[in-house]
Amino acid sequence: MTSSGGAHPGFARGRRLRSTPALRRLTAQTRLSPADLVLPVFVKEGIDDPQPIGSMPGVVQHTQDSLRKAAHEAAEAGISGLILFGIPADKDPVGSQADAADGVVNVALQQLRADLGDELVLMADLCLCEYTDHGHCGVVTPARGQGGAMVVDNDPTLDRYAAVALAQAQAGAHVIAPSGMMDGQVAAIRRALDGGGYTELPVLAYAAKYASCFYGPFREAAEGAPQFGDRSTYQMDPPNADEALREVAQDLAEGADAVMVKPALAYLDVIARVADEVRVPVSAYQVSGEYAMVEAAAANGWVDRERAILETLTAIRRAGAGSVLTYWAVEAARLLRR
Ligand code: PBG
Repeated sequence: MTSSGGAHPGFARGRRLRSTPALRRLTAQTRLSPADLVLPVFVKEGIDDPQPIGSMPGVVQHTQDSLRKAAHEAAEAGISGLILFGIPADKDPVGSQADAADGVVNVALQQLRADLGDELVLMADLCLCEYTDHGHCGVVTPARGQGGAMVVDNDPTLDRYAAVALAQAQAGAHVIAPSGMMDGQVAAIRRALDGGGYTELPVLAYAAKYASCFYGPFREAAEGAPQFGDRSTYQMDPPNADEALREVAQDLAEGADAVMVKPALAYLDVIARVADEVRVPVSAYQVSGEYAMVEAAAANGWVDRERAILETLTAIRRAGAGSVLTYWAVEAARLLRR
């Protein structure tokens, strides 16, 4: 007999299934496993040692060698993939290093593919912001009729993206992941890949990517902050959710194989709606600012760091994401196996 002895019948007792860890495990509706996780990594040209990123404690800009080591550790931890970001030594207005065969990410892709074969899914983030001297995700031109203000020019950017996709395919990427939010980018990339014989290479579209303050630390990590203006003319406006469904539908119509919502925690409703709507894999990106917030609070003793990692990742999975890109991927995988 329980202590209340049945004196208050007539209501549901949700506590019955919460009473032991094993019962809670048995009845958990959402499961998180290492296979759900993808680790974003930064590789920088021209450095001798990994460089810490101040706003992302525990995350570094890798050398080619330290990246190879980190990739082995990631495989060991049982996560499913890496997504690569490069920081070139030289930037120019069109981001030439993004599609140079000896560009920093393309070299990294070649080496990781040679080291690991198909053990991890090697995703290539496809964007120009780390490669352009102005820090925008596309090429810029003076706007018509706006007093010569510079704008990001959609269609010439598509030609650049097509070239970058081919270079990344040649370098050995398993997945091309365009993140620039140009209209028509998936179609342009799909056409380029098919034309180059890469008909089997999938495109994971950053379909619903918002103009978010939570990318702040990433811009330090990737050295890609815009030198003028911001990204709100191409990334989505935070108040909009129906628009995310339109962006997703358009990317799928253009040939995307899987879609992503980004950021994650402030957009769980968007993840849920997208997951409801489509029948392709849905990813979510737990971005740099989400990582930094938890790290900062944990460093102050304000939240339990490990619980915050697992709770936020579980929430993103519960909202409907099948996989999560997270800077905690390797650590979370280890926590899950413990
Ligand atoms: C590049 C890109 C960004 C992020 C991923 N790809 C930065 C941006 O759009 O400004 C952000 C990732 C993060 O914050 O962790 N377009």
